[in-house]
Amino acid sequence: MYSSSGDSNGYHQDNKQQFGMSQRDRVRRVRAKSRDGFGEEQKVTPCTEFDKAYFNSYAHVGIHEEMIKDHVRTNTYRDAIFHHQSLIEGKVVVDVGCGTGILSIFCAQAGAKRVYAVDASDIAVQANEVVKANNLSDKVIVLHGRVEDVEINEEVDVIISEWMGYMLLYESMLGSVITARDRWLKHGGLILPSNATLYMAPVTHPDRYRESIEFWRNVYGIDMSAMLPLAKQCAFEEPSVETISGENVLTWPHVVSLLTFFAVQLTSM
Ligand SMILES: C[S@@+](CC[C@H](N)C(=O)[O-])C[C@H]1O[C@@H](n2cnc3c(N)ncnc32)[C@H](O)[C@@H]1O
Repeated sequence: MYSSSGDSNGYHQDNKQQFGMSQRDRVRRVRAKSRDGFGEEQKVTPCTEFDKAYFNSYAHVGIHEEMIKDHVRTNTYRDAIFHHQSLIEGKVVVDVGCGTGILSIFCAQAGAKRVYAVDASDIAVQANEVVKANNLSDKVIVLHGRVEDVEINEEVDVIISEWMGYMLLYESMLGSVITARDRWLKHGGLILPSNATLYMAPVTHPDRYRESIEFWRNVYGIDMSAMLPLAKQCAFEEPSVETISGENVLTWPHVVSLLTFFAVQLTSM
């Protein structure tokens, strides 16, 4: 059960995925609960070196500061939680990838009976301290481990997660939300957010074109136009994350993908 090991407030470190795993352990299989629209046999993928580096990157304070200071992001989650308060009050919640625990605490403030705050990054240690400092240890149970590996011995009413990456899916975290859904969510439970739409639109970026392409026409008085094809190839092949204004957008966005998390299956991602 949630408080059976670890600190008195239920903090639990699950490192079993990191050390001394046999090849057999690496491809463990769990049988998801069979329910309408849900449930297919899932492979629990092993925690790779890439995953470890990924989780390590979330141990740094800077990324959490940046996310929390993104007021549009954080206030939107808080508003969504309180907008759905009637579905959260007295209910059991899982926060998939809790980070510093901020969304878990919002859920506790909204009256959740119990919140499982799960994170595989060492930031979970800090989340646990934040929970304690806010006297919420009786409600918020921090589980330090992958959603794919930790154990929660009850069904949950609500799953909350901030999983969106660049190009929506780039961070590849949605699979972990779906895994949580298939492992623990009650039939008819709530997923926040419950759907997502990926739009694509052509843009123009004259400043960037000038700096990265036109630049080669005259470099210290030397005609380096021979570099232009390579510069163009690299500029158009490589993704670039930039803030641009609405004026740069050339036409209406087009819906590329519409995901509904009650229906999407791991195998389709
Ligand atoms: C985008 S951050 C969100 C943090 C926090 N929920 C917030 O809103 O500030 C995503 C977090 O999910 C964690 N995470 C990603 N995949 C996970 C997984 N499979 N199991 C546990 N934690 C995971 C990361 O370590 C990271 O802390």
